[in-house]
Amino acid sequence: MCGIVGYIGDQNTQEVLIDGLKKLEYRGYDSAGIAVFTDSGLQIAKAKGRLANLEAKLDGAPLLGHAGIGHTRWATHGKPSDENSHPHMDESQKFSVVHNGIIENYLELKEELISEGHTFISETDTEIISHLIAREYKGDIVKAVQKAITFMRGAFALGVLTEHEPNKLVAVRQASPLVIGVGEGENFIGSDIPAILKYTRNVFILNDGEMAVLTSDAVELMTIEGQFISREMIHVEWDAVTAEKGGYEHFMLKEIHEQPKAYRDTMLGRIDKETKKVVLPELKLTEEQIKNIRNIQIVACGTAYNAGLIGRTVIESLARIPVENDVASEYRYRSPIVTPDTLVIVVSQSGETADTLAALREAQANGAHVLAITNVVGSSIARDADDVLVTLAGPEIAVASTKAYSSQLIAFYLFGLYLAQVRGTQTDEQVAHVLAAMESLPEQVEEMLGKADAIKTYAEQIASHKHLFFIGRGQDYAVVQEGSLKLKEISYIHSEAYAAGELKHGTLALIEDGIPVIALVTQESVLEKTVSNIKEVKARGGDVLAITYEEHAVELLKSVDQVFAIPKTLPILSAAISVVALQLLAYYASLALGHDVDKPRNLAKSVTVE
Ligand code: F6R
Repeated sequence: MCGIVGYIGDQNTQEVLIDGLKKLEYRGYDSAGIAVFTDSGLQIAKAKGRLANLEAKLDGAPLLGHAGIGHTRWATHGKPSDENSHPHMDESQKFSVVHNGIIENYLELKEELISEGHTFISETDTEIISHLIAREYKGDIVKAVQKAITFMRGAFALGVLTEHEPNKLVAVRQASPLVIGVGEGENFIGSDIPAILKYTRNVFILNDGEMAVLTSDAVELMTIEGQFISREMIHVEWDAVTAEKGGYEHFMLKEIHEQPKAYRDTMLGRIDKETKKVVLPELKLTEEQIKNIRNIQIVACGTAYNAGLIGRTVIESLARIPVENDVASEYRYRSPIVTPDTLVIVVSQSGETADTLAALREAQANGAHVLAITNVVGSSIARDADDVLVTLAGPEIAVASTKAYSSQLIAFYLFGLYLAQVRGTQTDEQVAHVLAAMESLPEQVEEMLGKADAIKTYAEQIASHKHLFFIGRGQDYAVVQEGSLKLKEISYIHSEAYAAGELKHGTLALIEDGIPVIALVTQESVLEKTVSNIKEVKARGGDVLAITYEEHAVELLKSVDQVFAIPKTLPILSAAISVVALQLLAYYASLALGHDVDKPRNLAKSVTVE
């Protein structure tokens, strides 16, 4: 977790670092800090809490200089506090480090360093890095860093400065993301591209096991063993304003509204208008391999896991291949049964989630072909997977994922249809029928968004409740699991999602007068059964909102308290519309409660620790 930035050049270093950290706050906001080479040496400012606290500190005592490193923290080792904030220094105050990741053997190393006479002031794993580098320094910072990391086990992206060589900034990447920005007479490092995009569009993406040595005039790339590398520079085309709020009160609301575009973009070029078939030329998976697939495992975390639940319903119904869903943090420890005919699909918005990356490697080690569905080209997961289906949702800034999730659904629809085409489990007419319905989804979501006020009113009604339930059957059950996660995550209201038919096996005991129950009712093949379950809830005093198609609204109103109608689509596509209603519900509930919608407590956007 955490975000790092670094700068070397003639601009106001403090300003460049703070700008970068603002873009990285989504990676953690327990504390922030910067180290800058000033006229009086390496100076540090850090503050617990949001970046604004650090800015306030710097207002009174700015750090002026020509190079610096910065950090925004999501606490792993040691509570959020000023002492545990980065950058960390060694005791000579000559070496300063920012770090994203975890040093697994830090306790061992710390004991060793203490026995050698080093003293520590923080509880972090990072502080040992500055001490190790100081210990190994023999007049060459690059060599000292290279030597220090031979002792470290774990994940780390590092930015390192030393007062002994004020014209160098050293960066290292080992299993945590890091990019190098190239300017004119200045150079940058950042955990991601938006952190440096205001200043340069020219970047190098470091791979694991690589490092960079930056001066204001040059960037040298090398392996951590010191072998020089030449790499093509990437010119980033996308616009910085796409990463800004664009007039919405919150990034989450903006991103909810961007879903029609995300759907269109993700479908673009993947539906052949003439043949009315799916085309996925980016796939390396051959038709032969597809025909031989015996089972699929979909592995992911959180919201991406929930998207995988929909993926399962889609693939099983279209391509008739058995699918299992796994939470990534469990997958590698359950000794998964994988054969060369197993396709493993990992789903990850960021492409950097440590648990998902570990699951990908476990699957590959067992011989599976791994397809990644991700939103970030060039991410670790995208680079390590055998195949990649990119979702084109654009940068997602709000911690609560919305457009990335729904674009993952689009990727699953396309891939499910593609499997069906190759394996012949759907006729050409059936494929064309689904594709035509998919092409209407963006407009239908726009129509849904036009009804946001009704959802807002309902959200304000439920905001005072401590507990509520979501129910649904079939694909609706998968969607309400995402609805429930979203609500918990940003409104802190406790909610649970149940398969509607399962309530009577225990949870019905919790239903009492006035408890809100949100029933998603789009799967017409089980509509009557869901209505029976709703009646069981009503009989115990539950207050039920049904989300369904217009044509069922009147009938359902006889059994429920309120109905919200959504545009109708095919049963396997319904999630792409209904989830938008649940995202809005979570958003407005959080808003009504006055929470920080885009940065919910205890969470971070990109979870790069296991
Ligand atoms: C919730 C949310 C998380 C992520 C999860 C996986 O809104 O965003 O549950 O889905 O941390 O992240 P990615 O998709 O980046 O692997």
